[in-house]
Amino acid sequence: MNKKHLFNRRQTLLLGLGSIVSMSTLALGSTLKPQQASNHQKRNFAASGNLPLARRAAAKGLIYGAAVRKYALSSDAQLAARFTRECAMLVPEWELKWNFLRPKPNTFNFAPADWLAAFAQTHRMLFRGHTLVWHEPHALPEWFSIVNSQNARQILLEHIATVVGHYAGKIHSWDVVNEAISVKDGRSDGLRETPWLKFLGSDYIELAFRAAAKADPKALLVYNDYGLDYDTPEADAKRTAVLKLLKRLKSRGTPIHALGIQAHLSASETRFNPQKLQKFLSDVASLGLKILISELDVKDKELPVNINIRDRLVAATYEDYLSVVLDEPAVTAVITWGLSDRYTWISEFEARPDSLPVRPLPLDADINRKLAWNAIARAFDQAPKR
Ligand code: XIL
Repeated sequence: MNKKHLFNRRQTLLLGLGSIVSMSTLALGSTLKPQQASNHQKRNFAASGNLPLARRAAAKGLIYGAAVRKYALSSDAQLAARFTRECAMLVPEWELKWNFLRPKPNTFNFAPADWLAAFAQTHRMLFRGHTLVWHEPHALPEWFSIVNSQNARQILLEHIATVVGHYAGKIHSWDVVNEAISVKDGRSDGLRETPWLKFLGSDYIELAFRAAAKADPKALLVYNDYGLDYDTPEADAKRTAVLKLLKRLKSRGTPIHALGIQAHLSASETRFNPQKLQKFLSDVASLGLKILISELDVKDKELPVNINIRDRLVAATYEDYLSVVLDEPAVTAVITWGLSDRYTWISEFEARPDSLPVRPLPLDADINRKLAWNAIARAFDQAPKR
């Protein structure tokens, strides 16, 4: 990024964050002070023309896509029409997680994910896999309790060979390992205490990547994690630990090709430091890795009731973040974790205390564009070409 761009970027950022700062001190339902409100309204989210996000991204050598669940896409024609228009990549939000895919130790149910893969293919979208190794208990089947240090290796390798093999040659990328770093777990390598770590030791990550590469030598293999975005001590520590993990994997010749940055952002978080984030991205890139913004969305939990204000702050968060990360040429894809507020995990996992519907995604619950859509469109339009 040249200096002028950086200056403009920071100006924009400060303007946007200025209004967000005011938000964090506001109780729910209260209004902005006049001066803050006018600062806030000065921000212009005009996006030129009607080109879909996928086309704007493609013009810059980027991929735009979204996560979606089969039940939504197959039952909601309005969503399906918008999804095919806006997206160039589809990620199953549920269907490739262990609890959906492997109901019994020796039974794989590919039907729902295959339906999504066929939908993607029919509509000329890339298909992306999420995820092969994840500790999260709700994403693991009940039978997982049989896994122990004797059988873990075989169960994991069999899973990866079967699932990656099933989509070999037809998939853009795989999140091979998801969320393996948790600094607060207290280990010097930053690895999260998970069943896989307990049963297989710290080399389980390398093992998983090697197995995935063997089953599909063409897929882009990704390490995916969250909590890397902000200027907080936790995020500092996490960035350091992730970088250390990536360096270690690379130095051992592990077939890893990209870092997935989940980017579940929060519109009320003020601790955003573009330089710090860019430094991290360029450190990752210098290892020869690509970067995917893999699960982008913006929480509006702590914002006021007023929808216009909320939408502007969510949009500002999208644009400020994307304009910084898209300056790094190694960033090749932006995937939002859902497309429309009609279907978003935020409504369940990060609901508002006042129970009002959340508005974290590019399209609203009526599948219409909101300012967040404009913000993403603008960020793509302004991004340097890859
Ligand atoms: C979430 C889904 O969106 C929910 O519907 C599901 O019940 C729980 O998981 N990080 C990840 C995703 O890697 O798999 C999670 O998806 C969101 C956080």
